[in-house]
Amino acid sequence: MVKYPLEFSIGNRLERMRAMQISELRYHPEERVLVNGWVLHHRSSGKIDFLVLRDGSGEVQVVIREPDRSRLLVVLEQVQQEASVAIQGVVQQDPRSPGGLEIIADGIQLLGSSEEYPIGPKSHGVDFLMDHRHLWIRSPRQAAILRLRAAIVRRSRAFFDSHGFIAADPPIITPSFAEGSSTLFAIDYFGEPAYLSQSGQLYLEALAMALGKVYAFGPTFRAEKSKTRRHLSEFWMIEPEMAFCQFEANLRWQEQFIEAVVQGVLEECQAELALIGRDLTPLRRVLAPFPRITYGEALKILSDRGLGLHYGEDLGAPHETALAEAFDRPVFLTHFPASLKAFYMQPDPNDSTLALAADLLAPEGYGEIIGGSERIYDYELLRSRMARYGLDEKTYGWYLDLRRFGTVPHSGFGVGLERLLAWIAGVEHVRETGAFPRTLTRLWP
Ligand code: 4AD
Ligand code: MG
Repeated sequence: MVKYPLEFSIGNRLERMRAMQISELRYHPEERVLVNGWVLHHRSSGKIDFLVLRDGSGEVQVVIREPDRSRLLVVLEQVQQEASVAIQGVVQQDPRSPGGLEIIADGIQLLGSSEEYPIGPKSHGVDFLMDHRHLWIRSPRQAAILRLRAAIVRRSRAFFDSHGFIAADPPIITPSFAEGSSTLFAIDYFGEPAYLSQSGQLYLEALAMALGKVYAFGPTFRAEKSKTRRHLSEFWMIEPEMAFCQFEANLRWQEQFIEAVVQGVLEECQAELALIGRDLTPLRRVLAPFPRITYGEALKILSDRGLGLHYGEDLGAPHETALAEAFDRPVFLTHFPASLKAFYMQPDPNDSTLALAADLLAPEGYGEIIGGSERIYDYELLRSRMARYGLDEKTYGWYLDLRRFGTVPHSGFGVGLERLLAWIAGVEHVRETGAFPRTLTRLWP
């Protein structure tokens, strides 16, 4: 149990005592407490008032009976949804209330009023809610999603930290692109053109040559012209990069990572997942190894399902969904035609027109959550690829240097945090997976 050193009391209407978090109350049955929070609901029967208070650590029902109610009426009349209050009273066990506890209050102080809070119990349109995102994040469902996000971040870092990866931070302001020039956000860097990072990968390759196994976890930016439920223009990516690692081992890292995060979140976040109403059955099945199919095999499965693609065409969202439906857990799609993928990908030794790349497709229509590959480590091969893609040696000379000085086979991947969270939480659209999402049509609030 956490003890807060703070002695806390606001104003002169309440006894001076240490404020407690709602999550601590269960350790203090029958004790007198002071709790600060926001009011989720307030209802009054005329004789008795019920408040549900939240403080970020939990929720608790507060009951105010006569004669305290009459004495506190002036304050109670001002206590509306999302008002901030300090409450004083005695903790009682009550199996009927959520969490099995309630506070029988005899003191309340209004800290901040909340007149005409715009988000009520009635349903609002998405645009309205997104315009009020700064308030919408207070709602229990949105807050639960943000808690899940924090748990995924924690579990992800724990996975890599405990497997010998060094956390490394590639730059966000970059002089060149990593994932194609069409989705760059350009900025003016003291008169020189520069870009917001689309991926830390190229720098992570350099870091892997210094530190062995590394990972980055940070924001990435893509000027995506797509208005889909999977695309953000700012998102967070978990990017591991491993020296002395080839294609097969790269896939094994990915499936172990996904299994660890999903099973960890299932264990740690039962309350959040229940609040959101997530069906846990498909998540419980997320155990390595994951099935693998090649791009060529995928085309056959798709054509059997009436979604034919010509060889060399890229998959869209409907194709990814249809493929994922054929399996009961995430599926790796491998060996793409090199023309569909980035310049740095190692060719398949059995067919150099194919790239040793894999996308990991999530079940239930969530699409690609990981993109990864083995990287080209041969100097001449990378030079010729770069020439073919029109990348000049001046800009990328430092990247070529990695192949001139002690080059080794290496591989890595990038996990989109918001897509991973959307899938784990079972939320339809990535706009609900970050506090203030940035999309093609939204920069505010
Ligand atoms: O497949 P991508 O483009 O791969 C890379 O950037 C590699 N350089 C990563 C690496 O190997 N280090 O992106 C990786 C993942 C995707 O699978 C997806 O989950 C997510 O990043 N992603 C997006 N998420 C939300 N909005 C977007 N616009 C996204 N673009 C990619
Ligand atoms: Mg990709």
